Amino acid sequence: MKRNTNIILIGFMGAGKTEVGKILAGNKGFNFIDLDCLIEKKEGTAITDIFKKKGENYFRNLETEILKELYKNKTDIYKIAGKYGQIGSKENKNWVISTGGGMPAFNGNIELLKNIGTTIYLKADAKTIYGRIKSEVHRPVLGENGFTEATVAEKLKEREKFYGQADIIIYTEGLTAAAAAEEIGIFIN
Ligand code: S3P
Repeated sequence: MKRNTNIILIGFMGAGKTEVGKILAGNKGFNFIDLDCLIEKKEGTAITDIFKKKGENYFRNLETEILKELYKNKTDIYKIAGKYGQIGSKENKNWVISTGGGMPAFNGNIELLKNIGTTIYLKADAKTIYGRIKSEVHRPVLGENGFTEATVAEKLKEREKFYGQADIIIYTEGLTAAAAAEEIGIFIN
């Protein structure tokens, strides 16, 4: 593990980043932050609205801005998290950070992420991901008029080269969120 003790979960939508992240943070006594929530607090509106009203590029720039702020404060994430209303103890300098599914794939963000903490790719198959997110409507990057398993597979393939640069890859097929968190705990102690 890297010298600073932040753990960053990356991976496609529906890979379990938030669920696993919360369990992992609980297991390790770390603070938890979800960067999508942080962006929503910062902008005062939902991500779907940001996409609708301002477009994807605007959202991607917001993601990079937040990351740069985190990078500057990587040994004291609370300075940023607290500012945008995320809960965590000020004294605890260790954070589990859950990212938006597209974040590593834009603006060289993967490099920044790797400099903020240990990056962990929660890898899942397109079929599983599709099964988890198919009934959700708030998935702007997968198309306005619904999406198929093939859409997910294509986007996943496109992003794999970024996700694959993570420090640790956890293949989550067949694992519950608790089991995935346990497995991460084995690598990071
Ligand atoms: C996105 C994933 C979402 C959110 C936004 C874009 C993507 O986050 O950041 O809708 O491009 O894959 P989750 O992965 O947390 O759903």
